[in-house]
Amino acid sequence: MSLLDVNGLVKEFGGLRAIDELSVSVERGELVGVMGPNGAGKSTFFNCVSGVITPDGGRVTFDGDDVTGDPPEELARAGMVRTFQNTRELETMTVRDNVRLAGPDQPGERTLPALARTDSMQTHEREVRERADHLIEAFELDHLADEYSSNLSGGQRKLLELARVLMLDPDLLLLDEPFAGVNPTLTKEIAERIRGLNDEGMTVVVIEHELETLTELVDRLVVLQQGSLLVEGEPEAVLSDERVIDAYLGE
Ligand SMILES: Nc1ncnc2c1ncn2[C@@H]1O[C@H](COP(=O)(O)OP(=O)(O)O)[C@@H](O)[C@H]1O
Ligand SMILES: [Mg+2]
Repeated sequence: MSLLDVNGLVKEFGGLRAIDELSVSVERGELVGVMGPNGAGKSTFFNCVSGVITPDGGRVTFDGDDVTGDPPEELARAGMVRTFQNTRELETMTVRDNVRLAGPDQPGERTLPALARTDSMQTHEREVRERADHLIEAFELDHLADEYSSNLSGGQRKLLELARVLMLDPDLLLLDEPFAGVNPTLTKEIAERIRGLNDEGMTVVVIEHELETLTELVDRLVVLQQGSLLVEGEPEAVLSDERVIDAYLGE
């Protein structure tokens, strides 16, 4: 059984079919790249799968359950999280607080005074703090932990975003253009993080617009064009496929 199974997905915006009968499966433990020219429907695909928007047709199955149309919070609890093409951290908050706040629900934290909190709440809060600190360290963001995230570079924001979604300890991680606007050094670092997460067993799907970036990173490439599957397979074979070359030349 695939971890993620997308079957006959359809999404329309007015008269435009952004996703047109798309079927894609991802096996547990895989590292898959999703490519395609601008407007091919990559982000819309993620939006439908992660519950950000409701598809007009088709079915999304995650870990054996039909999750079509389930909201993002519910999917996150089930183990599926995604990042956005444009990072969504809170700029008026420090890096450390941004990571902590991305943690799982903290019952009572906002409504109860400190003295009324139960031991289990305090334990939970401590675990969230420790996990956040661990991720900040692992992502070499320690020197920036007390900076407002508005002071970070584009690449550092992408790293922060990755650290934030990892607070939820997902089984399936969906990354929308984690390398966009990132300099070559940080691109390498982010690619290594993604590889490391996958080595530890996390299933990862990465959207990337550029042709070359994903080739060395992923096990399999899925290429979309006009909302449909154009080609999928091993990176080398996909990149030399004439249909893929044509799709990119035609941009
Ligand atoms: N919320 C929306 N409303 C209307 N059209 C949209 C919306 N989101 C995406 N689209 C359109 O759907 C198509 C696919 O967009 P998108 O999924 O963002 O492509 P990609 O991520 O591959 O660049 C584009 O033509 C885009 O303009
Ligand atoms: Mg996109």
